Amino acid sequence: MNGIKIRGTGRGVPARTVTNQDLERLVDTSDEWIAGRTGIRTRHHCAAGETFTTITAEAARRALEDAGISPDRIGACIVATVTPETMVPSAACTLQRELGLPEDIPCFDLSAACTGFLFALHTMECLLNASPRKFGLVVGAENLSRCIDWTDRGTCILFGDGAGAAVVECREGWPSISAVMGCHGSGELLRLPGPETENHSFISMEGTRVFKFAVEAVPWCVDQMLKKTGRTMEDIDFFVFHQANARIIDLAVRKYHIPPEKYYKNIAEYGNTSAASIPLVLSELREQGKIGPGSRILAVGFGGGLTWGGCLVEFA
Ligand code: COA
Repeated sequence: MNGIKIRGTGRGVPARTVTNQDLERLVDTSDEWIAGRTGIRTRHHCAAGETFTTITAEAARRALEDAGISPDRIGACIVATVTPETMVPSAACTLQRELGLPEDIPCFDLSAACTGFLFALHTMECLLNASPRKFGLVVGAENLSRCIDWTDRGTCILFGDGAGAAVVECREGWPSISAVMGCHGSGELLRLPGPETENHSFISMEGTRVFKFAVEAVPWCVDQMLKKTGRTMEDIDFFVFHQANARIIDLAVRKYHIPPEKYYKNIAEYGNTSAASIPLVLSELREQGKIGPGSRILAVGFGGGLTWGGCLVEFA
């Protein structure tokens, strides 16, 4: 199988910032507790004319611009999300219209919670191998603020809205991203009911148990990736971890002795943005010049489902 590489990235971030102090007025919590336990200081929430669709389209447009690729060259579009604006049309079909993507390509949403973007990258690699058009648009986007139970201090402090996108290219001879991924069906640990199952669709989570799952899933993914690709830690230019809790990232950094210049945390600003978290990191790293042509990135995600995954992706 021919591999994909990232050609360009972009993001769409709601203008409204919600601080820990704002949340202190809603529930019994404190900036000190939130920052100490999670690393989160602010998160962005959609407001005043901003919607899932506006931030998703902004991220996708910027990724196309960054890649220098016109929409008519896109061979498939996948939006990883658990909070699309509408179930039908899918977010990806809406993007097809908004961006003027070709009509003879697959556009669909993918639901794998916080691992969604990596599941989507893997799916895109498979699709582009069979497509005459060799560029793909992969988006991770969430509007989690509308699924928050504002009386639950264990979850309402965690989540933010945002969208990140990558334009990828598939070429003969390029290495596969060698994705590893898995899932373990569990409805109790982390749940977001669909509209038909309950009156209000709020996120609920057993935080401590999810935390334990995450601290095992991350090294499992790193080890599997290194084994599958035959790479060593030194071969990796940058480690991108899903931003769910700064302490989960810190544990991985300590375990693998990753130097500060090889990993990144933006959870302090964004909170947990689920499927958007990894592409938001990629887009910021790209903008700051920390990754670019030739960079080899090991990305790891984990989350609801439960799901987990990793891939080794290069910048074209
Ligand atoms: N402010 C103040 N106190 C809070 C609080 C808040 N926002 N949320 C919970 N607490 C309290 C609890 O009620 C509990 O009090 P008690 O001991 O009197 O019962 C205490 O703090 C400890 O709660 P606990 O849930 O055990 O804390 P924790 O250290 O596990 O941290 C999370 C909670 C949610 C931050 C942490 O478990 C976590 O990050 N989990 C994984 C999240 C994740 O990865 N989710 C998505 C997967 S992508």
